Amino acid sequence: MNAPPRTPDLATHADETARGERPVAFLDIAAMHEEVRDDLDAAWREVTAHSAFVGGPWLERFEAEWAAYCGRAYCVGMANGTDALIIALRAAGIGPGDEVVVPANTFIATVEAVLAVGARPVFTDVAPDTLLMTGAHLAAALTPSTAAVIPVHLYGQPVAMDELCAVARRHGLLVIEDAAQAHGATWEGRLAGSFGEVAAFSFYPGKNLGALGDAGAIVTDDASIAEAARSIGNHGAAPGLRYVHARVGVNSRLDGLQAAFLSAKLPRLDAWNAQRARAAGWYDRALEGVPGATPVRIAEGARSSHHLYVVRVADRAAVQAQLARDGIETGIHYPIPCHLQESYRDFATDRLPVAELAASQVLSLPMGPHLDETQAQRVCDALTRAIGRAD
Ligand SMILES: Cc1ncc(COP(=O)(O)O)c(C=O)c1O
Repeated sequence: MNAPPRTPDLATHADETARGERPVAFLDIAAMHEEVRDDLDAAWREVTAHSAFVGGPWLERFEAEWAAYCGRAYCVGMANGTDALIIALRAAGIGPGDEVVVPANTFIATVEAVLAVGARPVFTDVAPDTLLMTGAHLAAALTPSTAAVIPVHLYGQPVAMDELCAVARRHGLLVIEDAAQAHGATWEGRLAGSFGEVAAFSFYPGKNLGALGDAGAIVTDDASIAEAARSIGNHGAAPGLRYVHARVGVNSRLDGLQAAFLSAKLPRLDAWNAQRARAAGWYDRALEGVPGATPVRIAEGARSSHHLYVVRVADRAAVQAQLARDGIETGIHYPIPCHLQESYRDFATDRLPVAELAASQVLSLPMGPHLDETQAQRVCDALTRAIGRAD
């Protein structure tokens, strides 16, 4: 059978390149699954043996495990991370008439969620070194209608949450963390997802903790948010009552099989993050002396999950094309800042120069727990050559 086409950004075991070298995959997801193959197989057997496909013990188990991992009282599984953001906003009472502050440099789902609940996104710029929103950005974006902020722990690096939460607290704003890329990351020793009233996670397969399909969750310490989120994601069901719909909801449940796969992979998350950190260290050292490739800085106080390793380069299209010829898979996160996306222009106000410049320069290098030192060196050598040619 021919190999089926693969999802962009996910694993490959492609053929050799013209130079006779094995390509360096953007993320070797198959290697992660090989490590937990027996547990994944057992999860499949158990869930299918009990037909616990929607709800049931595997969902409850993963929700308890993820709440405990994040140090929060409640976790509610969702169908994906986008729904987790939408339902977090709705459960927290955000809706029409509210403004929600979001960074321009994020995946579009952050903004989509604000519009999905009928609120208005207010874009901020980001810091030039970390490319993250700060408390100062939030303070500058406030209006009498501001009701909430969504800090995004982008590339795996947590926002400086003490400063941001202090601004939010002073102004009575809800903090809804977008922790889709930051499983296990910390700010000043505290886990991403443990700061806001509620936090949303994605378990898309390419995330640090990924399901074998779409999956997501919210975590919170607030019982009423958890109860509302569970109800909204399950057709507005009243707790414990069948076919009684206390509110208008949707169908956004994390299924039992994905929950069981996530439980099988969760014990490896910290070790995989440590392996990613080691790979980031190889890149940092190898790129120190390379003019023209500037890694996004990790702030003191942040422990990144190293979801992505992002460098800034001037002539990105040429550099990326040359890397592709050398068998190095790369990504761009993200090529158009959200406020300049055609469908979102109504909500753009001022220019956001840092996010706009970054969008033209960012290049994500291969990253993952199984990237080895030889591959990291090959990537850096190829990048150095590519930058030299593009000059
Ligand atoms: C920062 C960010 N927010 C939200 C999402 C949405 O998650 P999902 O793809 O599971 O809907 C993602 C993942 O793609 C993301 O990276």
